[in-house]
Amino acid sequence: MQIPEGLRSLREKALVEVTLPSGDSAFLVTRYKDVRALFADERLSKDISRPEVARISANNDLFMDSAIEPDPPGHTRVRGLVTRAFTARRVEALRPVAWEIANDLLDKMAAGPEVAELNEAFAFPLPIRVICKLLGIPPEDMNTFRRLVDGFLSVSKLPQEEVEECRTGLWRYLGDLIAAKRAQPGDDLISGLIKVRDEDNNRLSEHELQYWTQSLLIAGYVTTASQIGTGTAVLLSRRDLVEQIQADWTLVPSAVEELLRTQIMGSSIGTMRYALSDIELSDGTTIRAGSSVLLSEESANVDETVFHDPFSLDIRRRENHHLTFGAGLHYCVGAALARMELQVATEGLLRRFPGLGLAKPGDQLPRGLGGFMEGFTEIPVSW
Ligand code: HEM
Repeated sequence: MQIPEGLRSLREKALVEVTLPSGDSAFLVTRYKDVRALFADERLSKDISRPEVARISANNDLFMDSAIEPDPPGHTRVRGLVTRAFTARRVEALRPVAWEIANDLLDKMAAGPEVAELNEAFAFPLPIRVICKLLGIPPEDMNTFRRLVDGFLSVSKLPQEEVEECRTGLWRYLGDLIAAKRAQPGDDLISGLIKVRDEDNNRLSEHELQYWTQSLLIAGYVTTASQIGTGTAVLLSRRDLVEQIQADWTLVPSAVEELLRTQIMGSSIGTMRYALSDIELSDGTTIRAGSSVLLSEESANVDETVFHDPFSLDIRRRENHHLTFGAGLHYCVGAALARMELQVATEGLLRRFPGLGLAKPGDQLPRGLGGFMEGFTEIPVSW
């Protein structure tokens, strides 16, 4: 479970042309300085519904919705309404809730046989229950929306008809949920957004309300669950690091950041952008207007001009300004929430099960290929 070796030579060029599984061509930006700057650059559009934008795979129209304005100023207007719910103060208020959920799941694990599958026992239910609480979604709906979200995120895993069925099903499910909340509001984020929408249609349209609810539900657990699973698996393959954390719990936040920096779940490849005009990079090469562009967080996060000894996993690393949550215009709305959950998950697991270890060698863990996320699909652990 090393950081992929292929990332070592990638930054020899600031811009690398790649051929996607669809056969389309795109440009990968590889260096930290450029990736960071371009995340905040309005010359790169996220309007991927244009026909000229490269597709990751044939028929792939993930996150493509021509009724949504994905760029400023429309995007910034709606984003502003949502980010309010994710301030550091609000997230800290949720920490005891996350601990309560984590402890409940850990109790269940402890009551069972001394072996469990980490994804199902812990990594998925923790962020799912937290996001359900935040959005006001009944946790009993978990099986329904997980199946739909799984299909929604298929890039090449499922046949197109099945993907369509899941996308339509998820949209209908969220429409029904919003209607139910409109009739009976609660003290939750969706009810809050409905109120904004019903008071002033210019601030949030019905379609935007439903689209962002969908984004928050999906982004709110799939990424965090993948990172809890993958990050824990990487950590458990390094007993020395586990023991260092268990000897000093203040290392948890920096360990979580380092696992985020070296994350290998494959999230960045899905966020395609499009150059509206020529853009010059730090080495003088130019991204030509009309090019499809991928900003490689994975490559930026191991840039040796920014991170000392980038291929080593240093859980005490300081100044760890990785780009795993993006930056700038689309900086992850849920970054503070994800960090908090990852800290609770890591500390909870290692405190409750001091001898926690992988029940299968790390390099034999299966990966979920063909979907948006490529975390491990099965992580057997014992204690
Ligand atoms: C480890 C967990 C997570 C990772 C690695 C992650 C990563 C990212 C990244 C890289 C972006 C920027 C994409 C781009 O610029 O194209 C993003 C955006 C976003 N994330 Fe996260 N995320 C995580 C957790 C969460 C959580 C918990 C939530 C919500 C509760 C969330 C909600 C969002 C939303 C709504 C956006 C879109 C923001 C925008 O377009 O302005 N994410 N995330």
